[in-house]
Amino acid sequence: MKKSTWQLYNFEPLVLKNVDNPTILAFSCYFHDSSACIVKDGKILAAVDEERFTRKKHDASFPINSINYCLQTAKVKTVDFVVFYENPDLKWQRIQETIKKNPPSEEARNRIVKLWTELKFKHKISETFHQKTGLNNAILFLDHHLCHAASSYYVSGFDEAAVVTIDGVGEKITTSYGQGHGSTLKLEKCINFPDSIGLLYTAITVFLGFKANDHEYKVMGMAPYGVMDRNLNPFYLKLRKTIHLNEDGSFSLEMKYFGHESFDSKAYTEDLIDLLGLQPNVKEGPITSEYENLAAALQLVTEDAVFNLLNHVQKATNQENLCLAGGVALNSVLNGKILSRTNFKRVFIQPSAGDSGTVIGAAKYIQHLLDRNAPTEHMVHSSYGPEYSSQEIRQFLDEHNIIYKEYESYDEVIKEVAMLISKKNVIGWFQGRMEWGPRSLGNRSILASPIYDDMRDILNAKVKHREMFRPFAPVVCLEDASTFFECDMPIPEPTDYMLMVYPIKNDMKKKMPAVTHVDGSGRLQTIRENQNLLYYRLIKEFGTLTGVPILVNTSFNIRGEPIVCSPMHAYKCMMGTEIDYLVMGRFLVKRIDNIKDIWQPCVID
Ligand SMILES: [Fe+2]
Repeated sequence: MKKSTWQLYNFEPLVLKNVDNPTILAFSCYFHDSSACIVKDGKILAAVDEERFTRKKHDASFPINSINYCLQTAKVKTVDFVVFYENPDLKWQRIQETIKKNPPSEEARNRIVKLWTELKFKHKISETFHQKTGLNNAILFLDHHLCHAASSYYVSGFDEAAVVTIDGVGEKITTSYGQGHGSTLKLEKCINFPDSIGLLYTAITVFLGFKANDHEYKVMGMAPYGVMDRNLNPFYLKLRKTIHLNEDGSFSLEMKYFGHESFDSKAYTEDLIDLLGLQPNVKEGPITSEYENLAAALQLVTEDAVFNLLNHVQKATNQENLCLAGGVALNSVLNGKILSRTNFKRVFIQPSAGDSGTVIGAAKYIQHLLDRNAPTEHMVHSSYGPEYSSQEIRQFLDEHNIIYKEYESYDEVIKEVAMLISKKNVIGWFQGRMEWGPRSLGNRSILASPIYDDMRDILNAKVKHREMFRPFAPVVCLEDASTFFECDMPIPEPTDYMLMVYPIKNDMKKKMPAVTHVDGSGRLQTIRENQNLLYYRLIKEFGTLTGVPILVNTSFNIRGEPIVCSPMHAYKCMMGTEIDYLVMGRFLVKRIDNIKDIWQPCVID
């Protein structure tokens, strides 16, 4: 057994001038998925990723559009506090330590210095912020993992909880845990770079020919095609040699297999290729059964490491509630097993559990630092993005001479759309405020019927052009979920955000072949009546028509493009694909009525 890698978590507490009822703006940028969020009157009023405005997937640029949207939504021109999602001084320190340990090439060193000098040092971030926004606040820089932790605990609605964060790397930290009690959140222990579950996951993602910090979810989707049995998977024992798990829940990586301590090498080394006895896949190359088995081994090893960690945290904190955050918390297959493989009784994960979601934590941490009596907010939906009024939608349609039908009431819309879906049409569904986080959850969704065997192929041919191994997800009303799925009861809230995968009941699989993954599981979204009434009623109406109150819900975009935000994006997406109908508010647009229009097809990368 290796020695423990737990370190004490040290954080120099911020001392702030007290402001009653502060308005707090938080933002992130210059890594991936820039974002912004605003808290006013103790509540999150808006939160959004910059990619939705700029239409560049994972856009890392300064999030000026997101910040402007937050200020407009909160109806403010100034704010009391501005907070950034990480501490650049600590990050730079880690980079310097890594450079000292493994001196990079001249070219790599120049690239790093240029990037930091032009963009990433604290004074540059402040300067850019002041120039672009016209605001003059001093910027607060908060530890990345504290932001992750706060992004879950302070919106969980729990009075107390254990809090665990697991990602690639923040400044130096890759994993941490602590506890929330009332308005106080404290991280206690952490594990530092280079030991990182997230970077192990990323290394294998790259090995399999996928993109780092982007395609990890595809690898998760591929895993069930491989052998998910530890005794039979040909790569499991080999991959287990790359990570040491300690009895105290900590872990360390065998660094000879990984490249993330060098600025010049790949995410993995020749030693890993030798260990696995497998050549890495070319970029987005064909998927063989060997690669499927490696993806399965990765899922198993990740679960070993995370459950070893979570079980230790549960014992150390004696908490029944768990708040989870960080990129690894987007692994919905793992999340679905938390309550059965640990002694935690309840789990909360917010919809944007990865890096862009830290802005919520940054803003909420400052709010609670100033007001130790404030209760934790309970996030019960993800609708924190832009919305468009009926008048704005009508104006868009009229200005572009689009042929459409306007319904008198939403009752009619629901009846018509449920009927269209039951007749195998693919619907672009655009309603209310855009969702926060990487998933479409019923406001910017593509909807279809799950009951047809060939619906997955139809969706791929008409719109998504996805790898065939990737499943489509079902959405079901909360009270119907246990009829169709073998889920924890009561059903954990993260299922509202499509963050937990559960087995589909054996006798139900044939009723929804389009959303049944190869291993018989489904990454379900549950929907509550008070969460999104229109969406809820549509699913119920479809159930009345077909006997299956479940829809296919997939993100309203095509491969390589961010999810649509505005009516223009939605219309363009429909006209560049073969989505049959677009429903925006009470307006129905039929694609074939409008194919006289020439629209550039959407970009596929
Ligand atoms: Fe992170």
